[in-house]
Amino acid sequence: MNQPSGAPLQVVDRKTGSPAPGAESEAATDPLLAQALQTLRVPDLLLGHRIIMPGDEDALLPTERAGREQATLKVRRQSGAVRRVARELLEQLDLPGVELPRLPNGAPKWPAGIVGSLAHDKQVAVAAVMPSTGSSYIGIDVEPAEPLPPKVMEAISTPGEQRKYDPETLQGRALFCAKEAVYKAFNSKTGQRLGFQDVDIDLASGEAVLKDGGSMSVAVITSPRIVVLARYTE
Ligand SMILES: CC(C)(COP(=O)(O)OP(=O)(O)OC[C@H]1O[C@@H](n2cnc3c(N)ncnc32)[C@H](O)[C@@H]1OP(=O)(O)O)[C@@H](O)C(=O)NCCC(=O)NCCS
Repeated sequence: MNQPSGAPLQVVDRKTGSPAPGAESEAATDPLLAQALQTLRVPDLLLGHRIIMPGDEDALLPTERAGREQATLKVRRQSGAVRRVARELLEQLDLPGVELPRLPNGAPKWPAGIVGSLAHDKQVAVAAVMPSTGSSYIGIDVEPAEPLPPKVMEAISTPGEQRKYDPETLQGRALFCAKEAVYKAFNSKTGQRLGFQDVDIDLASGEAVLKDGGSMSVAVITSPRIVVLARYTE
């Protein structure tokens, strides 16, 4: 967990493998992140990412733009970037050109037979999709590899977590990221909200225990960015 934060992103063109010409690149990924994401893979799960670029806002399809006319360019760009990633993954499942509008709770509406999750920070968009088994839900979140401000750490952690994790390391940010990922999976499954004190996370064993007695698995990478995949399986 104690890894150096703020590793610079290496932007390369996915088609040529050579350094991307900055913002003009059509398809840019971070090879270190691509490699790290491999460690989160489980059977049937597809994971992808993209460096957010100017122009990604244009990837939003009609139903995805609806109701977001007032959103800032930054927000539309992040949402467009993450949908580009998700569409590439869905194409691998023979589902081309899928629109992913937002449901009233903010979650994306996935096509029948698919569960998935989207996340973005300022620089990177990540998506996870898998065929639905009817009882599996996933949540993903991405954060920069930087420690969490101590006040935020205090607000998002249970007393047990506060004893366990040092806010001066990346553990605090990983914990926050894990709670966001767990929230997405839980909210998609139940439609209910979950407070930060409603879940206790053990990053080492990869278990998130919910106040209602349920549990989820959480898998974490901390370099070059923090990404957490939460999975609920009945
Ligand atoms: C929903 C929430 C987790 C999203 O996190 P975020 O850091 O704001 O944003 P991220 O970049 O990680 O993720 C954004 C994506 O999450 C997805 N999302 C939003 N609401 C969602 C929900 N209720 N369920 C599942 N996914 C959701 C959307 O796809 C969104 O992308 P889009 O707006 O481009 O479509 C957060 O805004 C929130 O409401 N948190 C509630 C408090 C909390 O985290 N509690 C944790 C207790 S354990």
